[in-house]
Amino acid sequence: MKKVVLAYSGGLDTSCAIKWLEEKGYYVIVFIADVGQNENFKAIKARALSTGAQKAYVLDLQKEFVEDYVFAALKAGAIYERKYLLATALSRPLIAKHQVAIAHKEKADALAHGCTGKGNDQVRFEVTAKILDPKLESIAPVRIWEFKTRNEEIDYAKAKGIPIDVTKKKPYSIDKNAYGMSIEAGILEDPWVEPPEEIYQMTVNPQNAPSRPVYLEIEFQKGIPVKVNKKAYSPINILQKLNEIGGAHGVGRVDMIENRLVGIKSREIYECPSGTILYTAHQELEALVLDRETMHYKQGISLKYADLIYYGLWETPLKKQLDDYINRTQTHVTGTIRLKLYRGNCMVVGRKSPFSRYKEELATYGEKDIFDQNLSEGFIKIWGMPF
Ligand code: ARG
Repeated sequence: MKKVVLAYSGGLDTSCAIKWLEEKGYYVIVFIADVGQNENFKAIKARALSTGAQKAYVLDLQKEFVEDYVFAALKAGAIYERKYLLATALSRPLIAKHQVAIAHKEKADALAHGCTGKGNDQVRFEVTAKILDPKLESIAPVRIWEFKTRNEEIDYAKAKGIPIDVTKKKPYSIDKNAYGMSIEAGILEDPWVEPPEEIYQMTVNPQNAPSRPVYLEIEFQKGIPVKVNKKAYSPINILQKLNEIGGAHGVGRVDMIENRLVGIKSREIYECPSGTILYTAHQELEALVLDRETMHYKQGISLKYADLIYYGLWETPLKKQLDDYINRTQTHVTGTIRLKLYRGNCMVVGRKSPFSRYKEELATYGEKDIFDQNLSEGFIKIWGMPF
């Protein structure tokens, strides 16, 4: 009997996948990764076992997720197509890495996931696994099984007695972790339709957010957020704290059309309060401490790094080389950013750092001025000369 390790979420696709793999003659081991999606893992595990899995692993990967994946993206300033902070994309290579480790421990022959053949996640899981162990076979039941639509799949689940939360009325596909949430399908597939309020789980409608702003001070050490309002938090707790405050003020909602790796344009809704706050603050701190050439050069690196994450190329040589570069740029990204959250907005209102390159005596139009304006005349002549 062939052994397969299935990355299991407890959702519709992976639940049907257990049954389907079992019917195809596999010994199914499920792997439930806790990346901060805040679910009842006992219940999910029980569901997997009652659906036909022989064995179930639940691993708490939250710390590793935040420290090695989310913070790497934050330091890089990675954001896909100027809108998506990559919460889902970042979790995939981590899950794949542990899935491969479990396969080794269990001497399994194959890995499986519940992704469709139209999305990015299939690529991220499979490319990562292939890089880590090319001998493991990858199975994508959803790509090959007989159901044509989600409704047919729901019917299959019902017929086989698989417990599921999805109904035909609320057919959203949701992915959640400690960093944020991705929501698609159903009515959202019409790009003209405003998202119904019911899809949001992490943020209130900015319209209903408090009528007074809240101020936040975020302190960074070498590009990593360490304190909020002068209080130290662990990496995972800092995300929780900021998701809470940001969510309460309606910060971090994104409605976008994005270019998927397989060439399809899709409409996705994201909620990422903590990411929005941290990205805004981190960018601002870099503006204060980085020299101009590094800052401008790094903008190009940010784009590339975001693409590598989005395209499932986390475990590649280039990604590792860029990490070395990015970490080098963060040596002086230490300081504090003051933000104001108000009805969906996240505004920078103050910044300070022991490594600040802002010199008031150069910038000022007041008495402290030490800049010799006469020098500019010659500078401009030479600067413009070639043209
Ligand atoms: N489009 C996002 C990405 O490729 C999220 C994918 C998962 N989305 C979902 N609603 N299940 O990273």
